Amino acid sequence: MQKPVQITETVLRDGHQSLTATRMRIRDMIPVLEAMDDVGYHAIEAWGGATFDACLRFLDEDPWERLRTLRRSLKKTPIQMLLRGQNLLGYSHYADDVVEDFVARSVENGVTIIRIFDALNDIRNLETAMKAAKRFGAIAQGTLIYTTSPYHKPEDFVRLAVALEDMGADSICIKDMAGLLRPYAAYDLVRALKEAVRVPLELHTHCTTGLGEMTYLKAIEAGVDIVDTALSPFSGLTSQPCTESLAATLRNTPGDTGLDANKLAVLATHFRKVRADLVRDFGLNLDISLNPQVLISQIPGGMMSNLMSQMKQMGIGDKLEAVLEEMPHVRAELGYPPLVTPTSQMVGTMAVLNVALGRYQMIPREIKELIRGKYGRTPGPVDPEVRRLAIGSEPVIDHRPADDLAPQVETMRSALAAEGYTDLSEEDLLSYISFPDVSLAYFARHRHKA
Ligand code: CO
Repeated sequence: MQKPVQITETVLRDGHQSLTATRMRIRDMIPVLEAMDDVGYHAIEAWGGATFDACLRFLDEDPWERLRTLRRSLKKTPIQMLLRGQNLLGYSHYADDVVEDFVARSVENGVTIIRIFDALNDIRNLETAMKAAKRFGAIAQGTLIYTTSPYHKPEDFVRLAVALEDMGADSICIKDMAGLLRPYAAYDLVRALKEAVRVPLELHTHCTTGLGEMTYLKAIEAGVDIVDTALSPFSGLTSQPCTESLAATLRNTPGDTGLDANKLAVLATHFRKVRADLVRDFGLNLDISLNPQVLISQIPGGMMSNLMSQMKQMGIGDKLEAVLEEMPHVRAELGYPPLVTPTSQMVGTMAVLNVALGRYQMIPREIKELIRGKYGRTPGPVDPEVRRLAIGSEPVIDHRPADDLAPQVETMRSALAAEGYTDLSEEDLLSYISFPDVSLAYFARHRHKA
């Protein structure tokens, strides 16, 4: 550690997404935005991920309006967003014209840094978003989804990182969404990546397994440039390590973040109240605890509740142990996808069905698409017997999935017009393309039919 560590603050995105079901409203943010802008963060992650959907679905907010409001107050600090590659903020692949427009409008409305990832680490799914980000003047951050498997050795990540840099990535992020990156593994991985790539390296972890702070410290010792933290009321557990504590850890060392403890304390006081407000206003259950068992099951934070409700639906609410045991087998048979949206849901659903109905007796469409290569290349090979059961002798594509998708923007513009909306903004059109039903419900309350 020879240089100051830079901090990306996540309280406005991942912090509340992880701990309060993405319910933070723009009015909870506005009172402190200017104070946040004054802290000296490397960036503030404030948009994308689940926030877009949550704005429209739960908060009666226009996500684009939120972005513009953020931009007006965050004058000095880059706004960072999280983008799921060719999936944008939704769950299926979009055509290239949609991806290009979405990136263009995100930048135009205020995003400076776009963190782009793909659930399978198939970098072909990052290509269009990455090129668009650079073309429209954003900082394009290429992402490595961290997981452990026989196909996710340090040398695999180094190869991916070099490919991302060759593709034009302005920085590289290790995204450890389930808190699987153990401190000494982080040290080795960061060392290996710093030797292989020239662009800045950022680490994003979650404290789910109780390792987050230790992992950051070892990564910092190994030379990581930027780490993601959340102000205390939205830190820890399934969220990021705490901003104030990490700043204190590094104070008066060569890694000193330069963040002022008093300024952070003022912000923390505000967000402590916000958290209480959100719990009260949305009736949230904050009964979360550390779960080192995730190191075995690899199930990310938000997935457990989904899994439980699916099991109840299938009438096997009492078979959690069997499902947890089935998951790693399914994951191996499907070529070891990292468990992140949307592959986490696929593996979970398949495991539930296997336990309820017998192995691969019923195979959902998404799993078949995954096996057909429609989400991209799986890290390892799909088990031949599972492939046969799922798609018989159907071909598996080996090209970039989006190459098969015809342009969608104009088709969707017509579909929106057919709903009676002919003069909405391009931003509204992109909301509609991303989340048709919730957008129409929002438009019914806030837009006029022409
Ligand atoms: Co995260």
